[in-house]
Parts: sequence; C-alpha cells; structure tokens
Amino acid sequence: MLIGLQNVTFEFGARVIVKDATWHIQPNERIGLIGYNGTGKSTLLKLFVNQYMPSAGTVERSKETTIGYLHQDLLSFDTNESILQVAMGAFEKVLQLEKEIEALGRELEKTGDEKTLIDYTDKLHEMELLGGYNIQHKSEEVLQGLGFSNADLNRPYKEFSGGWRMRVLLAKMILAKPDLLLLDEPTNHLDLPSIEWLEKYLQHYQGAVVIVSHDKFFLNRMVTKIVELYQRELHIYNGNYDFYEKEKAVRIEMQQKAYENQQDYIRQNERLVERFRAKASKAAMAQSIMKKLDKLDRIEDVAIERPDLRINFRVDKVPGRVLVELDHLSKAFGENVILRDAKAEIDRGDKIALIGANGKGKSTLLRIIADAESYAGNRKWGHNVEESFYAQHQLEALALDHTILEEMRGCGSQMTDLELRALLGCFLFSGDDTDKKIRILSGGEKARVALAKTIVSKANFLMLDEPTNHLDMHSVDLLINALKRYEGTMILVSHDRHFISKTANKIWEIVDGQIKEFKGPYDEWVAWNERMRKNQAAAKTEAAASKKKPVAAAPVRTPAPAVNTPISKEHKKELQRQQKLFQQTEEALNKNKAEMAQLEKDLANPDIYSDKDRFLKAEQDYTQASRENERLEKDYETIFTRLMELEEGD
Ligand SMILES: Nc1ncnc2c1ncn2[C@@H]1O[C@H](COP(=O)(O)OP(=O)(O)OP(=O)(O)O)[C@@H](O)[C@H]1O
Ligand SMILES: [Mg+2]
Repeated sequence: MLIGLQNVTFEFGARVIVKDATWHIQPNERIGLIGYNGTGKSTLLKLFVNQYMPSAGTVERSKETTIGYLHQDLLSFDTNESILQVAMGAFEKVLQLEKEIEALGRELEKTGDEKTLIDYTDKLHEMELLGGYNIQHKSEEVLQGLGFSNADLNRPYKEFSGGWRMRVLLAKMILAKPDLLLLDEPTNHLDLPSIEWLEKYLQHYQGAVVIVSHDKFFLNRMVTKIVELYQRELHIYNGNYDFYEKEKAVRIEMQQKAYENQQDYIRQNERLVERFRAKASKAAMAQSIMKKLDKLDRIEDVAIERPDLRINFRVDKVPGRVLVELDHLSKAFGENVILRDAKAEIDRGDKIALIGANGKGKSTLLRIIADAESYAGNRKWGHNVEESFYAQHQLEALALDHTILEEMRGCGSQMTDLELRALLGCFLFSGDDTDKKIRILSGGEKARVALAKTIVSKANFLMLDEPTNHLDMHSVDLLINALKRYEGTMILVSHDRHFISKTANKIWEIVDGQIKEFKGPYDEWVAWNERMRKNQAAAKTEAAASKKKPVAAAPVRTPAPAVNTPISKEHKKELQRQQKLFQQTEEALNKNKAEMAQLEKDLANPDIYSDKDRFLKAEQDYTQASRENERLEKDYETIFTRLMELEEGD
C-alpha cells in the first residue's frame, strides 16, 4: 500500500465532509475520485498530503512514498525563469549533480589530482545512471505534448496566463515521476489535443494516479477504479465510469428493496405489538417484540441527494437583428497570427460554438468581441445589445476576501440583498452560505458564483468561455437546459463535446486566420467534416491514379470482334446490336467517370467546401453520379458477358 485513510473523519466546523472512511491506494492503481460539487474531493486530497489533519482516524503513508499533487486552484507561484527551466526543476537531483560535476571539473583543471579525478568520474557515472543527459529533451517533449510551441519554451513563466501556468506545473510534476500523482481536475485548463496527450501519457505512467474529474469520457479511458464521495461516505467501484453508473443503479435498487422488505417486517411486528398489548397474558411477548425492533439495524431509505441548480437566464431587452459585426479583423501575438483580415457576423438567435484545435485563438476572439483584448479592424455592436462575459479565468477574477453576497453586490445590478439571496438560493447557496468567503469555496462553488454573476445582468448576449469547467455532470446538464431555454444570443468556447452538441446551432472555426462559419449543430459539422476529409483523400488518390494512367487510355475489356466464325443472320444482328450497346455504354461510362472526377475536385476545393450550400449541392450531384456509375458498370458487365456468349456460342 502506498497510502491510505483508516477510519478517517473530517469536518469543517459543524459540517462533516467525510465520516469513518477507509481507503487504501495500491501501487500503479488508476483511480477516479468523483462526487458532486462541494462534497469534499479536493479536501480529501489535502488530507493525503497533510494539509489537513483528520479529527478521527489516521492517514497512513510509508516514508518512501513520493507524492505529486496538482491543486485545483491555480497557484500564486511566480518566477522569471523560462517555462523550460521551471519544468526541468523536476530533476532536482540531476541539476544538483550537474553543478557538482561542473565544480569538480574546474578543480580538476586547476589541481589535476587523482582523488578529484575519481570523484569526477564517479559523478559522471551517477549522472549516466540517472539518465541525466536527456532531461532537457524529456522536458521539451512533455511541454510540447501539453500544447506549448517550440518558441514558447524559452519565454518566462510569468508571461503565461493561469491556465498555461497550470500546464507547466503539470509538466514538472509528471516529469518528477512520483509514486502517486494526485490530480485535481487536470483537464479543466486543457484543450482537446492536450487532453488526449495527457490520457496517453498517464496510461503508461509508472505509478499510482488519483484523478478528480467531472469528465465522463476522460474517466472512462483513464481509470479502472472509481471512488465516489457521496453522503459523507466513500463508495468504491472496481471499474471505469460506465461500470460505476451501472453498478450504482444496481446498488440503489438493492438498497431500496432491502429497505422496503424491512419496512414490511417492521409494520407486521408493530401490528402484533398493538394486538398483544391489549391482552395482559401477551404483554410480555409484546415487550420482547418491541425490544427486537429497537435493536434492529435500520436500513436507510434511498434518498437520492442531488444538487439541483436552478439556472434561469433572463433577457431584459430585445436587440436588433445583428448583434456584432466583425470586419477586417486582424490579431497577432508576435509571429503567431491568429486573425488576418477576418470577417463575421453574429445575428439575433445565434448560439455559436467556437471550436478549433489550438485553444489559443478561440479565447482571444471571444475577448476581442468582448472588447477585452486589443485588435486591428472593425468591431461594431448592434442596437440594444446588453452583453455579459464569462471569461475563462472568471474564477480567478473573484475577490477571495469577499463573501459570496458581497461579490454579488459588486456587480452593478439593481437587486436588493433579499433578491440577491433568492438568486443565490437557486445556485445552492442557502442561508448562512452566502456569508462564506470566496477563498474557501470549492471549484464548483466558485463556478456557481461566477455563473450567478453572469445571470444577474439579464443580458441578451452571452459570451461564455469554458462555462462547464469545475461543474459536476449533473450541473452541466442543468446548465445545458438553461441555455436551451435562453432567449438571447450567445457565443461560447468549450472543450466539452457533449455540451457543445447540446447547445450550439452554429459552429465557428478559426482556419488560416479566417472565421469559418457552419450553419448547423455540432453533430452535423462533425459528419460534414468527416465527409470532406474522405472526399479530399479520394480526390488525392484519384489524382495520383490518373497521373499514372491517363483517363483516355483504351479500355482493357473490349472484346475482340469475332472474325472467323460463321454465324447465322439473326445471330449476327444480335451481335451487332450488342456491340453497339456495348460501345454506347462504354462512352456513357467514360463520361460519367470524368464527371465524377470533376465533382471530386470541386468537393476538395476550399472555395466550395467552405460554402455549405454549394458544398451540399456538389455532394448531392456526386451521390447521383456515383449511383449512375454503379448502374452503368452493371449494364456494362451484363452486355460484356452477353457479347462473349454470342461470340463464343456459335
Ligand atoms: N477552510 C474551509 N472552511 C470551511 N468550509 C470549507 C473550507 N474549505 C472548504 N470548505 C467547504 O467544504 C466543502 C468541500 O470542499 P471541496 O473543495 O473539498 O469540494 P470538492 O468536492 O472538491 O468540490 P468541487 O467539485 O466543486 O471542486 C465545500 O462546501 C467548501 O465550501
Ligand atoms: Mg474540488
């Protein structure tokens, strides 16, 4: 066992987080720690690293066990060092050794004595054993996997935003290779390619990993054990997330049945007691039944506890038809061009999801729209637009020393405290909760405060950057429903595919500095993209094939005209008829092939495939042409066979 909780109880004041919990972590286990927002997952991790002490029970840990712990809150750690240097800090021992070798080398030059030489070679050997010569390469590899470009590596750490700093710290931690990695919602600040990279990396990780996450897909691929913190108890499931869901339903059903059976039993016995009580002769029996019932270990009713957020976005005014117009928009960070003379428009009723591989350009575009970032070009607002911006690092923007209520007061709405408390109630902060300081809130609780602030404005235009971060899955579903009901217009950035597919009616993608719009939901966009890729590939192979073999080349299959066979008149006529038919079909087939080749080229043409209507038309034509092709090929075969028969037959 690496580390374990033994009958641990922990509470914040009167609030019990966990009661009498036992959980042992074995080497190399892959565990997902789950539970609703605010149940105490982050707190449990802090118990493991001794930031908190249990009020009862013990945290057992062998002395040698090394632990790497990634916080959910971004750290205040700051430095002028480059991110590569920060990440390489993981190799403390190697760096120390490097210094010693350098010093010994200098001394050797000066004195040249034998003892120094021996020391020197010993250290070199040690370095070799530690694999110390490629630490830079290893660090670069991990940083690149997490989305940093080569040019980034030597930039100072402090130039990076919170999310990117977190990636550097994550890189440093996994490079240090501790026996146990405790990762508190590591995917919150990552985009899809980085999440996929992390998945692969962690799958081969030599050590135990405990991941707190609200991401079903990630958990399903990453873990083989689920520990759920629910109703102040730890529930262990030996499988991935899907297994947990199924198994939990079974457990609930079993508990419900057991509960109902016990209730029946209790009621029966209570009736007996009632009857016996009246008769003096049976009073003793009634007594003993009552005692038995008292001693009974009562099964709890399955009261399913679920945090039901009540999110309601309201709209105050109706805006004009066009909310935002972007024109000649350009933006670059040094060499990195994000937008070049781009153009786009947001219309009333649009629910746009901004997607794209890199993760850098999306938030930037959103910030430009929100006027929170400099740019070149024009950005024009329509009439009556009242916007509200949920920025990516919204949670960091909350004032830690404010109470929740103070934070809400500070956002300029006309609401009274009473109204604000009512609103906060919908976000599950009831009674005294509203006097809690932001500092102590869990990740999900902070996200709820930030969402409440977005809602309080009654804006008709929402700009949401990663709004599902930190929210538990149930809350995400409630947010989806609220956004579906929302009558305003919105644009959002998210790496949660489920969330995007349920909320957006348009997709924007930043490609080559331009904003490409797809007028349809995410699933259609995916299918369209898939077809486009296939068509491009097909066009390529077609082009390659036609280079080798000119289309005009004589068909190989033409049967040789019969020459020497004496044949009947009738037979000859039929043969001629079939030969003519054969020729016609062949011509039609060649024409059809040429047509298809042209259509394939069209489909792979960016001018056409970026225009949904033209693309769909071309695609329709293509489908039709390929059906025609199938038909012709069949005819061709049939006629060919018939011809052969006629020529051979007689
Ligand atoms: N120092 C503290 N004093 C009082 N209450 C606290 C303190 N720290 C945390 N809490 C409360 O304890 C509860 C558990 O917090 P924790 O951060 O462990 O939750 P979590 O399960 O990680 O939630 P999330 O999924 O939102 O990250 C929360 O309601 C939080 O407000
Ligand atoms: Mg947490």
